[in-house]
Amino acid sequence: MKIVDSAARDRAVARCRERGVLIPTLAQQRDPSGVDRSVAEALVDLDMQTPDPLNLFRITWRNHRGSGGFGAVNALEIPSELTGVRARIVGLVGERFPTGAHKVGAAFGCLVPRLVTGEFDPTTHRAVWPSTGNYCRGGVFDSTLLGCASIAILPEEMSRERFEWLERMGAEIIATPGCESNVKEIFDACWEIRRVRPEAVVFNQFDEFGNYLWHYGVTGPAVMSAYQRLAGPSDRLAGWVSATGSAGTLGAGDYLKQQYPGCRITAAEALQCPTLLQTGFGGHRIEGIGDKHVPWIHNARNTDMVVAIDDESTMRLLRLFNEPAGRDVLLARGVAERDVHELPLLGISSIGNLIAAIKTARWFDLDENDILFTSFTDSVCLYHTRLRELTAERGEYDRVAAEVDFERRLLGVTTDHTRELTYPDRKAIHNLKYFTWVEQQGRSVEELDALWSPAFWTDQQSRIPEWDEAIDQFNADTGALDALRTRTGANQ
Ligand SMILES: Cc1ncc(COP(=O)(O)O)c(C=O)c1O
Repeated sequence: MKIVDSAARDRAVARCRERGVLIPTLAQQRDPSGVDRSVAEALVDLDMQTPDPLNLFRITWRNHRGSGGFGAVNALEIPSELTGVRARIVGLVGERFPTGAHKVGAAFGCLVPRLVTGEFDPTTHRAVWPSTGNYCRGGVFDSTLLGCASIAILPEEMSRERFEWLERMGAEIIATPGCESNVKEIFDACWEIRRVRPEAVVFNQFDEFGNYLWHYGVTGPAVMSAYQRLAGPSDRLAGWVSATGSAGTLGAGDYLKQQYPGCRITAAEALQCPTLLQTGFGGHRIEGIGDKHVPWIHNARNTDMVVAIDDESTMRLLRLFNEPAGRDVLLARGVAERDVHELPLLGISSIGNLIAAIKTARWFDLDENDILFTSFTDSVCLYHTRLRELTAERGEYDRVAAEVDFERRLLGVTTDHTRELTYPDRKAIHNLKYFTWVEQQGRSVEELDALWSPAFWTDQQSRIPEWDEAIDQFNADTGALDALRTRTGANQ
């Protein structure tokens, strides 16, 4: 990787040396089992949510619950009694990341390559994280660990939990008008901040390839590892399903399709804002996804299927999975207690992903030899206020509502609002990028045309080893590993 500004890089090295920041490579985030003993030992007693630089090593799908160490990829299989389909549906668990959502990895992928090449100077710049919530929380977390100042931009109607977390971290917050799907307002705030604050460096997850590449290089291999652990000899990795906010997570599908050519990629969105399905728009309640535009980093040509999810289903299932009456009904209907116990690991968009996976399974008539993977990006921990609001609006959740929601919103999921994409459909999604990115955000038509070429994406993918080399060199310059070994008395 080319050094962009060697003086800025020297300052970044000095800052990281001073703070004892050791940066993990993507290879280590993919498989942290071989991290230096000094790191592994220091992590044992360190809470994952503490803003300590060592927690950069916890940006991995392999955090072991309880031990403070690493283990198998955190994956949760949702049984057929709940999904109503024969195919197996497995979600990677985002709650077991610092901040309780995997977006902390996407933010790492955007910030670190610029830090280690001197493009971002932690002594003079401020990292700006535009988002609907989890990405800016991830960005603030990573910036704090890396000794960088930051600003979070998010819509004012996002869940209270997100704002409270940012306040606790002492982040500067800019709340933009509207809800989940008001991303244009976020982009406007980015232009304004660039204009008035020259120190601001915007890490726009919707067009930063660091976001895509982190998922390609870390989430994709994590799914493959979970598949290899769970699959029998005649099983198939049938698909990767992901609701798109920035479309970063969807990028894992590009990796998986290269490994398993039969793997389909399903992009999901809210029915109340069906941009991919119908060039539609609108507000909705699936926090974290569906923003009335096609992200620059969405590889539209490689997407096989588009599914729209009714946000009413996600809100009702959030209640079914978390209210006592809902859990009682699930147990009475034969769902195993250990499965019911795990359902709070699914936040609102995770439930959307589950529904999208069921639709994909139904569309392709998948059977017990097919395993569909998706992401359970965050958990109910960020939505307790939403549950309370639902109770205030609709009254206590009771058994009748639970029975109805289970039958209609889960077992009754159909293939409505689903489209298997033809070549022209994919091209139409790609073309829609024009209106956001060329007309509004300063991209050129030539750049847009380049995104249609598969070679563009494989070129991006080939950059990952260079990142790791640049991180290794940066760590060598800070001497952070030696310092840690001396501090912990571990020599390996
Ligand atoms: C809760 C939640 N779900 C889904 C997503 C979508 O992920 P991606 O931006 O990688 O498409 C996000 C993104 O912030 C999110 O916060």
